[in-house]
Amino acid sequence: MSFDTIIEMEDLARHYEMGGVTIKALDGVDIEIGRGEYVSIVGPSGSGKTTLFNMVGGLDRPTRGRVYIDGVDISKLDAYELAWLRCRKIGYIFQTFNLIPVLTAVENVALPTVFAGVPRNEGLKKAEKILTSVGLGERLHHRPLELSAGQQQRVAMARAMANDPAIILADEPTGNLDLNTGMEIIDLLHGLNKTQGMTLVAATHDLKMIKASDRIVWMRDGKIEKIERG
Ligand SMILES: Nc1ncnc2c1ncn2[C@@H]1O[C@H](COP(=O)(O)OP(=O)(O)O)[C@@H](O)[C@H]1O
Ligand SMILES: [Mg+2]
Repeated sequence: MSFDTIIEMEDLARHYEMGGVTIKALDGVDIEIGRGEYVSIVGPSGSGKTTLFNMVGGLDRPTRGRVYIDGVDISKLDAYELAWLRCRKIGYIFQTFNLIPVLTAVENVALPTVFAGVPRNEGLKKAEKILTSVGLGERLHHRPLELSAGQQQRVAMARAMANDPAIILADEPTGNLDLNTGMEIIDLLHGLNKTQGMTLVAATHDLKMIKASDRIVWMRDGKIEKIERG
């Protein structure tokens, strides 16, 4: 592994047993992702993209193989260390935003700082700053349902950034957005990747996202079909 590798997957597999049938959602994926790299994961629905994110993010355990983050085999982490990794090192963005409806934008964004043990006032200040940086300075106290889809995804982005993660995992972040709104999200993510050196791994069908990335990983049936330079 080269010194600047931040994520490494080694023969990574996740199989599901369903009524006597084995579904190979992920079936032997090997890849190294560099610090500060922007990688697009592309593939038809059911090709294993979300499963791959769940493994890299430590949300689920592989059937076989390993994930290393900063050289650490995450299967060796105890519950506390894994929680720390998920909270501090990785930010998640989902297709369906997954905001908490009863919390305001600023409270949603501050939530991960609470888990990280940041004092409440400090967390709220930080949240306010990030929301302002994504153009939502005027929407701090709106609840998710009082925001447009694009604004909700920007809140979700801000939340993903709350603890300054080294890695952003974005699972079809523009999948529920119209073209223009999707473009804003892509530009923001790409900007973070370029200016702050955040490693960005994004599953997408969006040609514009694919074009902006350093590498494109094509998946099919739980395997890497090919890898291209962006
Ligand atoms: N919890 C689960 N139980 C059983 N099968 C699953 C589960 N999650 C995903 N799968 C199956 O694994 C395959 C890959 O799914 P997924 O990773 O969600 O693909 P993608 O995100 O590329 O659409 C699909 O065939 C899907 O039906
Ligand atoms: Mg998916």
